[in-house]
Amino acid sequence: MAFATTKHLKLRAHRESDKVNFLLHNNDQRMTRTAYPGYAVPKGERAWKEMDEKSLSTAMLCVVLEAKREYVSLRKWDEWEVKQEDAEKKQEDWDRVLFAGYATIYLKNPKTRDGNFGIVIATPWWSNGFATEVTEWIVQHCFEQLNLHRISLDYFASNAAAKRVYEKCGFVQEGVTRQAFWLDGGWIDEVAMGILEDEFWARRKQLANKA
Ligand SMILES: CC(C)(COP(=O)(O)OP(=O)(O)OC[C@H]1O[C@@H](n2cnc3c(N)ncnc32)[C@H](O)[C@@H]1OP(=O)(O)O)[C@@H](O)C(=O)NCCC(=O)NCCS
Repeated sequence: MAFATTKHLKLRAHRESDKVNFLLHNNDQRMTRTAYPGYAVPKGERAWKEMDEKSLSTAMLCVVLEAKREYVSLRKWDEWEVKQEDAEKKQEDWDRVLFAGYATIYLKNPKTRDGNFGIVIATPWWSNGFATEVTEWIVQHCFEQLNLHRISLDYFASNAAAKRVYEKCGFVQEGVTRQAFWLDGGWIDEVAMGILEDEFWARRKQLANKA
């Protein structure tokens, strides 16, 4: 059952059966290289357990993203993947095929009501507008329902797609940490962005006036 839906996606709670998808996608360097600053090494069952216990379960908000079945044709397929006819797919096959990533909010400091945002879209679903629609939903939910004062995030300066998504959703740059991470044989900066509740409501009013 979905907690919420956007145009292409169901947003739901994470569950034990997601393990296989988390392991699959967190072992895809295309996805992890800009999502996590740690060592780029394969991750096994223990890493999933740690991620589940220390990370996903402690998030204020954690949504697993599942593409709606009617948009399965938007998915790109890697050559090693076995494609089945839709009629042949069992539930676990649909779960694997439609898994589109996850997004989280961690409450850094309850007193300041500052939520730290993170999003990962599974590689087969890139460039379909998924990150933009999920980020828009999260921002709205955080201010309208969760009573946050601000949302913060950080991204690798070389991650042009992330920058574009966050700017489209109303985040503004707040700072740069120089040479914060090592990637592709060189140092890269980390950029901090944020959106305040006042900015969200002003933007909402502006969009409503345009409509
Ligand atoms: C970054 C990420 C979340 C984007 O997800 P997505 O679903 O492909 O994003 P969307 O389709 O909603 O939007 C991407 C936007 O970036 C633009 N874009 C993509 N690649 C780009 C590039 N190299 N340079 C400039 N813009 C780029 C797209 O054109 C699109 O903008 P548009 O809608 O105005 O055309 C996804 O690539 C991802 O999960 N990467 C790995 C993990 C990660 O980096 N997470 C963010 C960590 S801060």
